[in-house]
Amino acid sequence: MSVKAIILAGGKGTRMKSDMPKVLNTICGYSLINHVILNAKAAGIQDIAVVTGYRSDSVRANTLPGVEFFLQEEQLGTAHAVNCAKDFFIDDGDMVLVLCGDAPLVDAVTLTQLIEYSQNSDCDLCVLTAELSEPASYGRIVRNSKGELEKIVERKDASEEEIKIKEINSGSILFKSSSLKYALDVIMNRKIQNAQKEFYLTDAVEVLKSQGKKTMAFMASNPNVVLGANDRYDLYLCEKAMRSMINKSHMLEGVRIIDSETTYIDRQVKIEQGTLIYPNCIIEGATTIGEGNIIYSSRIENSKIGNGNIIDNSVIESTVIGNANNIGPFTHLRKDTVLSNHTKVGSFSETKNTKLGEGSKIPHLSYVGDAVVGDRVNFGCGCVTANYDGINKHMTNVGDDAFIGCNVNLIAPITVGNNTFIAAGSTVSRDVSDDTFIIERSKQREHEVKKFKK
Ligand code: UD1
Ligand code: CA
Repeated sequence: MSVKAIILAGGKGTRMKSDMPKVLNTICGYSLINHVILNAKAAGIQDIAVVTGYRSDSVRANTLPGVEFFLQEEQLGTAHAVNCAKDFFIDDGDMVLVLCGDAPLVDAVTLTQLIEYSQNSDCDLCVLTAELSEPASYGRIVRNSKGELEKIVERKDASEEEIKIKEINSGSILFKSSSLKYALDVIMNRKIQNAQKEFYLTDAVEVLKSQGKKTMAFMASNPNVVLGANDRYDLYLCEKAMRSMINKSHMLEGVRIIDSETTYIDRQVKIEQGTLIYPNCIIEGATTIGEGNIIYSSRIENSKIGNGNIIDNSVIESTVIGNANNIGPFTHLRKDTVLSNHTKVGSFSETKNTKLGEGSKIPHLSYVGDAVVGDRVNFGCGCVTANYDGINKHMTNVGDDAFIGCNVNLIAPITVGNNTFIAAGSTVSRDVSDDTFIIERSKQREHEVKKFKK
């Protein structure tokens, strides 16, 4: 039996206290809705529908491709939302997995277990549950004396006894499509009798049970996977739980993370074994990091880092770094920086749209932007490529083995040849030929000191 997924993302998320649709909140590099889509795909589900409602256009525009959309014009509850996507599961014989767009942690492993459990027991409905020490506003799982699933009661409709139940509804429910269709027909055609005046999908348990259908509950082994983000505190808890899952999976793959609590790695990031990550690192976007790097307190975004680099207290954005480079402390590598191997970009230096050849160094207090720099070039302290004339940006080209003294300004566009030497303090505005020495300074004059001192 093939499994389709319907992801509910129609609600506003009033408890977030924001105009932005709740499912567009981002944690660990993806919006909530996109995490749910990725989870379903990772569990092997190809056919995915998303039900949108509140600010539908903006949700659709920000959702990963390859899903079908259904519109829920008015948000009348979770059963109503699924009912809006009825055309999606028209063929009987399939299974339909309903997922909440605000529950990003229901991972592929858990979904696969849920599907297997449900198929093995050949049930009509199987709800994913978890036991939480603080069951908060989740729907409560009511079981009979034999331990079988009896019904799901929403927190707002629960009796005092039911409120004490710690097993909760994750919101992920797997149905046989024919049973789902039947349950929806019943729920949508009867009078609403609940505290929230909504059509509840959770009522499907009682509806199907009353028809003698088999309804079951499958409890997740890791209770964190069911966390949903209803308010910003929940969002924080989801982010924290996901971060810890991401970090753990890197650690199990051989990455050393000194302090998981202060290490923020987006879901997309790939890191190879033997890399050592010290506290206070933020690694974002489509970043890949190779083997054996050492990274101290840095932010790295959308960058590709090779092997054996040391990165210390630096910010690295959209940059490609080869092997055995030494970056920082306090270095800013901006968009389109490319470092080859064995380079150094050190304290308080900034680069942008710059290629730095093998073994070249920008060790201190320099700005190198819009430049192509050859191999074994040394920039002294305080060098600047003057790349901007107020209207356009211009390129600086530096050949191999150039030695650029301290406080040199290279006024772009300019080409500095191979094996050149530029004396400290020079402001160079004309091209420098290969194998030449350049000094561009006013003559030092000497006067008696008393002329200048009072
Ligand atoms: C729901 C469940 C609850 C469960 C919890 C898990 C119901 C009645 N309750 O409660 O048992 O413990 O999820 O997180 O099913 N949505 C729509 N259209 C609507 C209403 C909701 O698309 O008309 C979407 C929301 O955008 C959200 C999801 O469905 O992504 C769940 O809705 P929400 O209002 O958050 O339900 P809960 O109160 O959390
Ligand atoms: Ca919710």
